[in-house]
Amino acid sequence: MSKVAIVSGAAQGLGRAFAERLETEGYAVLPFDIRESVTDFANGVVANVADREDIARVISAACSLGEIEVVVNNAGTWRRTPVDSSWEQALEDWDFIMDTNLQGVLLLSRAATPHLIAHGTGHIINISTYYVLPAKSSGTNGPETDLYNASKWALNGFTDAWAKTLREHNISVNGMCMGATDTAMLRGLFPDGQLPPDLEGNLIAVDDLSQQLIDIIASGRTGENFGAWVGETVQLGDLPPLHKRITG
Ligand SMILES: NC(=O)c1ccc[n+]([C@@H]2O[C@H](COP(=O)([O-])OP(=O)(O)OC[C@H]3O[C@@H](n4cnc5c(N)ncnc54)[C@H](O)[C@@H]3O)[C@@H](O)[C@H]2O)c1
Repeated sequence: MSKVAIVSGAAQGLGRAFAERLETEGYAVLPFDIRESVTDFANGVVANVADREDIARVISAACSLGEIEVVVNNAGTWRRTPVDSSWEQALEDWDFIMDTNLQGVLLLSRAATPHLIAHGTGHIINISTYYVLPAKSSGTNGPETDLYNASKWALNGFTDAWAKTLREHNISVNGMCMGATDTAMLRGLFPDGQLPPDLEGNLIAVDDLSQQLIDIIASGRTGENFGAWVGETVQLGDLPPLHKRITG
């Protein structure tokens, strides 16, 4: 029976790199995305992570490939959210960001967990951001990123609580918290996708984060946020004391 890895938001960027690497590692990969281009990938499914019926389709497609062992909650979205915008705009922004970045993680993880438990082992990886590691990231929270920022801090709650409850089922739950990585989302933050001079040629490579993902799965560690910073070698690092495993 093949072991299956599900990757959300896998049409491009980090999700695509994770899906390709997991395939190289021998997993039957079920990549899905709201973008049609995910069907370029073998087994690719067009699906919205925030839609329960879509997630049911994703789980069913994954089960047809084998036994689900890895879930990468990668799908994420971002937009500027000024604190002085109108109420209508603020609530629209809330739905746009939280539906994907937070509810999507809940839906996919809850739907997959019974299958991981039945399989007897598994790994859930929540893709977060270095913003949530304040000990090393002071001053990074942009003034117009409150909702994106809040969505990623909320993932800490999932990572911490699920790691504790799923440990007895031999399921690890970890976060990956990267700095600026060269993807369409990152380039979309800047006019015409033009990076500022300090970032040009100095971004984290998606392949280094794919390696970190594989290392996390192999590590046996759980309940941690693993950081990755621009200008530093991407690695797991030593096991921190318990009270620093989420906050860094
Ligand atoms: N690029 C960076 O510098 C960076 C830094 C920190 C964290 N991240 C996180 O990494 C993850 C991947 O980001 P990326 O840079 O590759 O972005 P990206 O925009 O290049 O790719 C994200 C993918 O998610 C898909 N997606 C969005 N909403 C979806 C939904 N509702 N259902 C299914 N798919 C959906 C998009 O279509 C896209 O293909 C995100 O969670 C992001 O917050 C990225």
